[in-house]
Amino acid sequence: MPRISVSHLMKMKVEHQKITCITAYDASFATIFDQAGIQVLLVGDSLGMVLQGHDSTLPVTIDDIKYHTGCVANSAKNVLIMADLPFMSYANTDQAYANAAILMQAGAHMVKLEGGDWLASTIQGLVTRGVPVCGHLGLTPQSVNVLGGYKVQGRQEEQADKLLNDALLLEKSGIQLLVLECVPVVLAKRITHALTIPVIGIGAGAETDGQILVMHDAFGISAGFCPKFSKNFLLETGDIRGAVALYKKQVESGEFPATEHCFY
Ligand code: KIV
Repeated sequence: MPRISVSHLMKMKVEHQKITCITAYDASFATIFDQAGIQVLLVGDSLGMVLQGHDSTLPVTIDDIKYHTGCVANSAKNVLIMADLPFMSYANTDQAYANAAILMQAGAHMVKLEGGDWLASTIQGLVTRGVPVCGHLGLTPQSVNVLGGYKVQGRQEEQADKLLNDALLLEKSGIQLLVLECVPVVLAKRITHALTIPVIGIGAGAETDGQILVMHDAFGISAGFCPKFSKNFLLETGDIRGAVALYKKQVESGEFPATEHCFY
């Protein structure tokens, strides 16, 4: 079976098949997710919180993401591997190019970066140089100190319009995937329909083209608390492989996320 590619994900959007994504940071879980038929693994900078115990993603370095991307790439043979460019590693285009090269050479097939219009030329430059890019809009955890906390974004009309315009601009600049985090269901639906590329939601309702969860949240093992938008799939299954299969099945059927996981 050929590895999942961006064109495969695009075809899934066109055919209204839901895309299932999850974070992964090591070879063992990557194998389990790969064998379960998950389409995208994200080596997320959430590792700063769930692996390293920080209270934000800001301390995560490019070396951290490089190391964990290598671990995932060593074992995941079928999925598309996406790696986060961490905080301040793409503050200018030269930094973005150098750091994207590090992650692609570690085994990533796509990099993800957080932010709107200010990233347009960086995205164009990366794509032109052979680096597929995923955008990340809505609640962008690297900007937690600017946002004033981990809050739902886009509830006001003006903010919602800005997010839609940013999404359109990022698509025009060359992103091939968009992660939309913690926005009201109606806005997520509007953005998903406005874009031709797949939109992957987390706390964005069931109308997006797919879902992503931090694996520790999906298994109810995050230190601290389980976010409203997540679900402990281990509770019903008692087994990791079963939990992953249930997550994928419920994303595909539209059962997850349910009303109680959504923002309005
Ligand atoms: O770092 C991460 O895990 C993420 C997800 C929350 C989408 O960006």
